[in-house]
Amino acid sequence: MLLENLSYVEVEGYLSEKDIILIPIGSTEQHSPYGLIGTDFITAEAIAREVGKRMDILVAPTLPYGMSQHHMAFPGSVTLSPETFILVIKDLINSFLSHGFNRIVFINGHGGNINSVNVAFEQLKYEGRRGIFKLISWFLLPEIQEIEKALFGDKNGLHATPSEISITKYLRPKEFSTKAHVEKNIEKIETYWPLNKDEFKKVYPDGRMNSAPWLAKEKYGKLIMEEAVKIIEEEIRHILKMKIL
Ligand code: NI
Repeated sequence: MLLENLSYVEVEGYLSEKDIILIPIGSTEQHSPYGLIGTDFITAEAIAREVGKRMDILVAPTLPYGMSQHHMAFPGSVTLSPETFILVIKDLINSFLSHGFNRIVFINGHGGNINSVNVAFEQLKYEGRRGIFKLISWFLLPEIQEIEKALFGDKNGLHATPSEISITKYLRPKEFSTKAHVEKNIEKIETYWPLNKDEFKKVYPDGRMNSAPWLAKEKYGKLIMEEAVKIIEEEIRHILKMKIL
């Protein structure tokens, strides 16, 4: 069920029975020559919408921009500053709280978003807001990391991973005819974090972070997405049982 397709009357009807909403968030940032710039929000959106469909739960429009400052040396990347991103997350939550949603679950596709989202949650609690604010980053689920290890060994890396590229390949196969696919060496580089955009490009010149995106396959994407949806469904069932204090 997509919020964007309902009338406010239908939202009122939904709120008389349920108080949960899923919000997909991601980023608009380079994913190496092998992947789509929209990778992070495309994966989060597809997973969230499938969970929403299976569980009859409302899914909000996707937030396609996130905190991506370290990717800004690559054209097409867009970033919100951490301050702006925190305020956007707070405004989204406050909007949904004001209508009676009490369980606000972000389905996240981008590691760079995590710190800011958690600060937003803490700030809202500091300001006295009631309710469950939850961040689920599909790529950090232990079951997903096990599958990635089985499929890609130590070549999944941290960015432009064959895992996320496989999901986008499954969802948008036609877009890959123009992307790179040649195998390269993976240099494992020890470095510090965070990096600014110039530091990032020096360490990771083609935008990959220790990953082998050329290993991506549609069938892996289908498998990984299905598993992520199943695990997140369980997590949502758990959230639905919790009492709002
Ligand atoms: Ni990504």
